[in-house]
Amino acid sequence: MADSTSRSGARYATQEIVDYTNRVHASHDAGLTRAFTVPDGIPAIQLGPSEGKLVEMLVRMAGATKVVEVGTLVGYSAIHLARGLAAGGHVWSIEYDPRHAEVARANLAAAGMSDRVTVHVGAGLDVLPTLSAHAPLDVVFIDADKDNYPGYGRWAIEHLRPGGLVIGDNAYLFGELTADTHRGRAMREFHELVAAACESVCIPTPDGLVVGIKR
Ligand code: SAH
Ligand code: DHB
Ligand code: MG
Repeated sequence: MADSTSRSGARYATQEIVDYTNRVHASHDAGLTRAFTVPDGIPAIQLGPSEGKLVEMLVRMAGATKVVEVGTLVGYSAIHLARGLAAGGHVWSIEYDPRHAEVARANLAAAGMSDRVTVHVGAGLDVLPTLSAHAPLDVVFIDADKDNYPGYGRWAIEHLRPGGLVIGDNAYLFGELTADTHRGRAMREFHELVAAACESVCIPTPDGLVVGIKR
């Protein structure tokens, strides 16, 4: 993943600095510590602590009660999304791999979030249509297979309320965003459809985080 650099290319965000700011602003309690610790055999590809905290704060600022996530992994981002919910809110989170979903459910239970998060097992594009009845949604967070970001983004724009947020992780596509590849084109299509339907920005996190407010 790319390091944060200044306009001149100088590198300011040393690991020591990132560790310090995570400690001060985004420290983990027992629930987050557990979900951040990914078991052997499952890739550790969850959001970073500051990105998780940012997503939680965006959900809170949106006053969200209805949130959809694509890509649960073992529940680290889902705990943040759930903690940002207003009273009575719910997160519907979709995970393709049943082993990931099982660990996620245990982590969500340990964090006291079981009644606020439902983990659906299946492919995002198959499960999303079953969640349409919950629209209008307040936040859709996309963090699953990168080739399908355009489909996820289109579904999000269709089902968000005006003022609702679409958020997409890995928006730099591991450095391949501008490459002439299938998934490069797919991720660019995601950027462009969000920008067309939203006031939007790509925040320079290590791998880019798109945030759009639906018009
Ligand atoms: N949001 C998580 C990280 C997600 S990693 C966090 O920050 O804690 C990406 C996840 O997407 C993986 O668990 C992977 O199994 C899942 N995934 C891959 N393809 C998918 C698909 N088609 N539909 C739903 N989930 C998928
Ligand atoms: C991968 C997926 C992610 O969502 C991420 O943030 C990092 C890596 C991956 O599939 O390798
Ligand atoms: Mg990601």
